[in-house]
Formats: sequence, C-alpha cells, structure tokens
Amino acid sequence: MRPVNVAILGLGTVGGGTYDILKMNAELIEKRTGRQIRVTKVLDKAVDKCLAKGLTEDMIVDDPEKIFADQEIDIVVEALGGIQPSTDFMLRAMKAGKGVVTPNKAAVAANFDELKKTAEENGVGFRFEACVGGGIPALTAIMEALSGNEFTEVMGILNGTTNYILTKMTDLGLDYDEVLKDAQAKGFAEADPTADVEGIDVANKLSILMALCFDKYVKPSDIPTKGISHITMADIEAAKAKGCKIKLIAKAAVKDGKLEYSVAPMEIENSHPLAGVSNEFNAIYVTGNAVDEVMFYGKGAGALPTGSAIVGDIIAIAKIL
Ligand code: HSE
Repeated sequence: MRPVNVAILGLGTVGGGTYDILKMNAELIEKRTGRQIRVTKVLDKAVDKCLAKGLTEDMIVDDPEKIFADQEIDIVVEALGGIQPSTDFMLRAMKAGKGVVTPNKAAVAANFDELKKTAEENGVGFRFEACVGGGIPALTAIMEALSGNEFTEVMGILNGTTNYILTKMTDLGLDYDEVLKDAQAKGFAEADPTADVEGIDVANKLSILMALCFDKYVKPSDIPTKGISHITMADIEAAKAKGCKIKLIAKAAVKDGKLEYSVAPMEIENSHPLAGVSNEFNAIYVTGNAVDEVMFYGKGAGALPTGSAIVGDIIAIAKIL
C-alpha cells in the first residue's frame, strides 16, 4: 500500500514534536497502522530550523496552497496556533479532501461547529485530541469509550503553564515572573502567555469539553474566566495555612437542568486528588450517569506529550483512509 502522506503547518514546539515522534517511532507506527506514515511537506518560514531537523529543501514551503493542491497529501496537521489564518487553512484542507489534525484549541473552540460540519460534508477525518490536556487521551475517551453516558460534570486542571507556575510558587517559593520564563523556555506556554495566565487557554479547552460532554457550544468569551496573574505569595501562604493549594480549575456541571461553567483559581484541599497534580501535569475529571467518576491524568503541555496526541489522531485517520 502507498504511504500515508502528512503535511505539517508550523514546525514550532508542537509541530516539531509531532515530526520527531513520526521519525522516532516510524517502524512501530507502520506496524500498527499497516502503512508507512511520512511527512512530505512542512509550511514554515524558518527554513534553517527545518533543515536542522533533517527535512530537505523540497519539503519546506511558504505557500499553504502548495499543500492544499498536492494530491498526494492525505492529512494536514495544523500547528500554527491562533484563530486565523489557521481556521481557514483547516477548512481549505478539508475542502481539498484531506483529513485534518490540530492541537489548536483557540481555533477549534472559536469555530467548533463549522470545522465539524465542513469535515462531515467533505467526508474527511477531523481530530483534535491534543487541544485539551496535551498528551491525555480524554477527548477520544469521551467521544468513544464513554459515549454511552449522560455526563453531569466535567472539571479539571487544563493548563500546564499555570499549573507549573503555581506548583513552583507553592513548593519552592519561587517568583511568578521567573517561573513563567522557565515555563516558556520548556515550551509549555502559548506564544503570548497572556492566554495561559489569564485563563483564556483554559476557557478554550472548557468550551471544547462542554461541546463534547453536553452537546452544548459555549463561546470561550462567554465563560466566566479568571486567571492567576493576580495570585500572590500571600494568597499561596494563606491557602497553605488552611491545608490547601491554589489551582486554576475549569468546571462545568449540570445543576437543576442548567449547565453552569467557570474558570477560576480555587483553594483545593491537600487531600483532594487535584491537589496532587503538579507542574505541567493536567487532570480531567468526568462524571457520567453510568460510569460514575473517571479521572484522566498526564502531561498537559510540551512538544512530545502534545505530539503524542497528534500522532495518535494521524494514525486513527490513516487507518480509515
Ligand atoms: N499553553 C498550554 C498549556 C499548552 O500550558 O497548557 C497546551 O495546551
């Protein structure tokens, strides 16, 4: 069988991690998929960086149309970030008959219905596991293994950068700005970390979780959202004195038939499982009327954990091509 050809839009932290995993695990991925999966084109202006990763010049393009027009490309990974032009690129790829995989929660949360509908209309795969919880396969579980449930609540720690900052402030007494820089250097933070520290990134992720769990789309900007930029060492010490840790919590729950939702820092008792979720780790709790409570835990940010979810989605699409 001919190989499955993949194009990556954006060879940054996450796009680069995806490329590395496809190379690192090529043999076992081919064995599991029954077909070779190879990256044939990359959209990125940083040619030197791409060459340093082992790409050849003919693989690197600066015009996305060269990817959409390439009949040989089966799957497009959109890892540029931002809402536009990323959304247009994904729609364009779908209309050109290509499956789409993305970690871009801002674009998916802003245009959830249109992206889903366009994928369906064009009969192509559209998967976005990496949008919520990095490497944690919670979305696939919600859409597949748990799909026999009526969900009543979803809550969790959904941002690696802020959890890393809060952990280092709590455990080591480190300064907010210093830890933020460290999180950026480790590739956890968004290009503009305001989205992380002000809770906007978590609101995007909660919007996607609500669409999947409750079949209700809520615009991220309509989710009451508070970030952690105002949290001081004094707040952290006050929480500690009460036997608590401050965590940035996303929560959506059905109460008296109404869906209530928010993103905000909360004091979590040390005995609660979420208090033990440290550094860039994320956790997602889902309550269903059949399964009861399920918790997912893993690395919510970083090149390889996020790339792991993307590669899983590529393989899932490749299997049904
Ligand atoms: N900036 C995000 C985070 C990346 O820190 O969680 C993963 O979505």
